[in-house]
Amino acid sequence: MKTLRIIALMIVSALMFCACAGPGGNSRASDSSAEPASAQISESEPSLEESSEPELPPAEIEAPETIRVLEPRGREETPDLLSYASTDGENLAVSGEYDLDVPGEYSLNFTAENAQGKITEKPFTLKVLALPYNEEGVLVEGEYETVKGYPLVVRDGIAYVDGYLLANKTYALPETYLPGGILPEAENALAEMRAAAPQEIRGKVYIRSGYRSYAEQRYIYNSYLLEDPKEVVDSYSARPGHSEHQSGLAMDILCASTVLSQQEEYKVVLDWLGENAWRFGFILRYPEGKTDETGYIFEPWHFRYVGKELAETLYADGEWITMEDYFGIDSAYKN
Ligand code: DAL
Ligand code: ZN
Repeated sequence: MKTLRIIALMIVSALMFCACAGPGGNSRASDSSAEPASAQISESEPSLEESSEPELPPAEIEAPETIRVLEPRGREETPDLLSYASTDGENLAVSGEYDLDVPGEYSLNFTAENAQGKITEKPFTLKVLALPYNEEGVLVEGEYETVKGYPLVVRDGIAYVDGYLLANKTYALPETYLPGGILPEAENALAEMRAAAPQEIRGKVYIRSGYRSYAEQRYIYNSYLLEDPKEVVDSYSARPGHSEHQSGLAMDILCASTVLSQQEEYKVVLDWLGENAWRFGFILRYPEGKTDETGYIFEPWHFRYVGKELAETLYADGEWITMEDYFGIDSAYKN
């Protein structure tokens, strides 16, 4: 036993000697003949001044926090996510997993490099939005979001965007939706507007065509089909279920004809309404030059009640923003 202990001690001593004399970091500290400290540093760890070029700032990335794109049925081209971001660096890219064909929410990063290859990451959320209708264009109950980030709900067959009932070429009302007349809030707003109209036109601010049931709209639409080709009728008359008149919130004031609306006696009234209806909560629903958005030609007589707040926003100092543009929805028949 004693012999073994002595051998073990000898091995430990020999190892300790090697460690001290070897080329490791400790050896230098114990070496009294070492070179000056500065020279030693330049040998193994270059000083900052002598290191390569200075560190460059990281690349900047400009990008929205959320990017919304529609599922494939709602778009013509595959969106290019890189087009949403810009950088002063190089190699802009998207990192993370996503599928532009599958509705859902994806947490991703834009990445870019500076000239020294240092990578910047900018997180964003990609929302691939489901459309609220099926392959036949029939609305599907549920909660959705528009490309402009507004909530869109389909409840009991009726679509509401940010709480506002929708009726256009995309969003139909059920045949069974029968409010039976102009809704009280729209009636009251009309009365207020009539009272405020200049004396000389007050008597002409009346409803020529207000509430129309699904069946009445079908009759009107089919009557027009006897006069004009379908694509022409579709530009000025809604198919049954798609007319805002069925909602009880829309009304044609004074006249419902492009020809009449150009006659002076009508024009005076319609011009006043075009400038003032928003103050009472009405919007000019199919403004001039917005056919691509609304799906209909200019109708200076058709007003829709939305309430004063939204009406003022959409009036936009006479520019008239459409509901479709403002909320980020379309108006196009799906079948
Ligand atoms: N003239 C409008 C578009 C309607 O038929 O409801
Ligand atoms: Zn109308």
